[in-house]
Amino acid sequence: MQVKGRVLSVASECVPFIKTGGLADVVGALPAALAAFGWDMRVMLPGYRALRQRTAGWAEVWYESDLWGGEGRVLSGHLDGVDLLILDAPHLFDREGGPYGAHSGSGGDWWDNPQRFAALSWVAAKIARHGGLDGWKPDVLHCHDWQAGFAPAYLAYGGRAGVGSVMTIHNISFQGWARAGQLDDLRLPREHFHPGALEYYGNLSSLKAGLVTCDRITAVSPTYAADLVRAEAGLGLEGVIRARASVVSGVLNGVDTQVWSPEAEPVPYSAANLAGKAINRANLCAEFNVDVPGPLAIVVSRLTDQKGIDLLPQVIPDFIAQGGGLIVLGSGDQRLEWQMQELAWNFPGRVGLRIGYDEGMSHRLFAGADAVLVPSRFEPCGLTQMYGLRYGTLPVVSAVGGLADTVITANPAALSAGVATGIAFHPTDVPAFAIALRQLTALYADKPMWAKVQQRAMAQDVSWTASAAKYVALYEGIRG
Ligand code: ADP
Ligand code: GLC
Repeated sequence: MQVKGRVLSVASECVPFIKTGGLADVVGALPAALAAFGWDMRVMLPGYRALRQRTAGWAEVWYESDLWGGEGRVLSGHLDGVDLLILDAPHLFDREGGPYGAHSGSGGDWWDNPQRFAALSWVAAKIARHGGLDGWKPDVLHCHDWQAGFAPAYLAYGGRAGVGSVMTIHNISFQGWARAGQLDDLRLPREHFHPGALEYYGNLSSLKAGLVTCDRITAVSPTYAADLVRAEAGLGLEGVIRARASVVSGVLNGVDTQVWSPEAEPVPYSAANLAGKAINRANLCAEFNVDVPGPLAIVVSRLTDQKGIDLLPQVIPDFIAQGGGLIVLGSGDQRLEWQMQELAWNFPGRVGLRIGYDEGMSHRLFAGADAVLVPSRFEPCGLTQMYGLRYGTLPVVSAVGGLADTVITANPAALSAGVATGIAFHPTDVPAFAIALRQLTALYADKPMWAKVQQRAMAQDVSWTASAAKYVALYEGIRG
């Protein structure tokens, strides 16, 4: 297929190389989704230790002698189906631990994160402006979250050279904060240090820098995009979003339907033949030593306040009394890990728990469970509710952000119109969640109705096709 345009995607995470959350899934899935439309996307990532070991023999397409205390090389190669540009700067990225700190997840950040991700952004902007040594030059620079936030700023302040820029907000609660005193060190022009540009409550935010200098802003769902103009969701950046409303849009994430397919599981099934799902359920119950007469629900999540995990101990006892059961797979805040541990101890045979991160197990959970619970306080998009739809594992979600955009709640009107795909509740609190779980139990008991909702859920298009088309339209509108 003829190449219609080129995009340099800049991010800190990308499946299957490095992941702490959904950002990685999205960055990893976009290149193939865009390729179907003739757009050529390369993903630029930091040369973390594990990635570095896989770049032997790759071509050097950029050299930077002075990158915050050392030199940096950009290596270009193709790995696991993705065209990558790896910023090899060992003094910044060749470290033991996770992408942001010594721990593998988030939290416990490195002190020099502003410089580390400024370096990534600096080099990305230069490659966008000049093209790499191999002649590859993008039409568009697509930056993800705070880690790439300085890239549109460096591009804008150093000369755009006909390159358009997009800043995508996956989660506005991470803002890339840095001290005002770091302005010069971060190579940002002093004359732009004012509230209308770089200044952020007296300091700096790389995300704000990107938001004020890019050509287009996207959020990962339409509802989240709309919510961001209010302080509760914008978390300090609502004024910036409001000021740039004319270039803001919401583009829903998709799911990699090759990776997330019930037909590709070890015991496969489909909407037409659900026999495999019953086998998966039995296997799952055996694996976790649970026996559940009613709906078997799962949670696959980072265990953080965002995700509403703290509500579970208050609603699950009643759910269990109604016949339900729960399996939790997740890791995160220690307090929440303990709460989950306590729940599992209190309800042996009904609650299963695995603290940790396990991709294979998450597949088994979606393939075997009846419902997936996503009681988030806010959710920019959310991916697990979409896995749930695809696997006929009905999503029970709080009606916020992308959860509200992807699940049609089984209220009487939706049921009689035949459009319900799950259960959504509002607000995110114990009474509303408890009622939603009662609704789930009742729906599960009504086998014909359950089957209808399940079929409807599995028929939803959660692929990237529609959203990739939206990104392409966006790119077309800003290319030089
Ligand atoms: P967020 O990015 O806010 O964590 P998303 O729903 O967008 O939320 O994406 C989370 C991704 O991480 C999904 O692909 C989900 O399956 C995966 N995930 C989260 N926790 C775990 C875990 N403990 N084990 C396996 N996969 C997990
Ligand atoms: C963030 C959000 C999540 C979203 C993901 C991918 O991690 O918390 O809702 O699905 O990014 O865009």
